[in-house]
Amino acid sequence: MAPKTYKVIRLAERPGQAGAINDKTFRTEELVYADLKPGPKRVLYKTIYLSCDPTQRMWLNEARGYMDPVQVNDVMRSGGIAVVIEAGEGSLYKPGDYVFGLINWREYGVLKDSALEKLEVPPGAELLDFLGPLGTTGLTAYFGINDVGKLKAGETFVVSGAAGATGSMACQIGKKIGARVIAIAGSQEKVNWLEKELGVDKALNYKSPTFREEFIQAVGYVDVYFDNVGGSILNLVLSRLKLKARVILCGAISDYSRFRKWYFRVSYQ
Ligand SMILES: NC(=O)c1ccc[n+]([C@@H]2O[C@H](COP(=O)([O-])OP(=O)(O)OC[C@H]3O[C@@H](n4cnc5c(N)ncnc54)[C@H](OP(=O)(O)O)[C@@H]3O)[C@@H](O)[C@H]2O)c1
Repeated sequence: MAPKTYKVIRLAERPGQAGAINDKTFRTEELVYADLKPGPKRVLYKTIYLSCDPTQRMWLNEARGYMDPVQVNDVMRSGGIAVVIEAGEGSLYKPGDYVFGLINWREYGVLKDSALEKLEVPPGAELLDFLGPLGTTGLTAYFGINDVGKLKAGETFVVSGAAGATGSMACQIGKKIGARVIAIAGSQEKVNWLEKELGVDKALNYKSPTFREEFIQAVGYVDVYFDNVGGSILNLVLSRLKLKARVILCGAISDYSRFRKWYFRVSYQ
């Protein structure tokens, strides 16, 4: 049965240039469900899973990026998986179809067909895999390594943010290719998981006071670096590159909350 109302979460105020997200950043609002009507080639969807990604922190900054910032009072932007409840005239979809897209922080919504991608779960997989290995995370790692990094068997491959969604995919793809994979993460527990479960050749804790020495000893020099974090780890790896090394600039998570306007100006203009 259709609900009377549904919830959305809006950006209430920006967290500020150096700020962490706090209890004033977002606000919840209830809206009338009956107002949601799928027009032609549009669907009414119900959200099932939302993906919480580092890039969302960047979207909260009033700064130039690969996408426009989320504006104050907008519903928070988010990728996610939804199920189609009702399809408008001429829509490609039918009720019960699972879809992926920027469905945002809302329980229900309406989007045009072209903003969505139909999901067919292959044997042995589950729907949630489309927010991981079969989604943008897996694609980012796969194409970063193959198209940008051109990683080859026997090369030394360093991955930062290695226990995260993208990094853990990059480590596994690196092992499959036959590279010597060195993973960097922020706790002993993650180091153990990377070595014992994921099977990387060596994992290092960047919070260790002797990280720099451990890195130089374990790595030697780098053929390909998959950079998820930027900052001081990127600086260290840049000082250890071999001739003709490749650096995959996937993300710079260490800077997303320490946003400084001049940084973007210097970098991009
Ligand atoms: N997921 C995607 O589809 C996608 C697509 C394109 C680009 N990216 C980029 O890839 C990067 C990783 O994204 P993700 O989705 O894999 O993130 P994630 O699963 O949330 O993992 C991020 C990890 O980064 C580490 N980290 C946080 N602050 C750090 C710092 N200051 N220095 C070093 N490490 C830090 C943390 O692990 P520790 O405990 O090890 O510190 C954290 O768990 C981001 O820069 C993102 O923008 C992701």
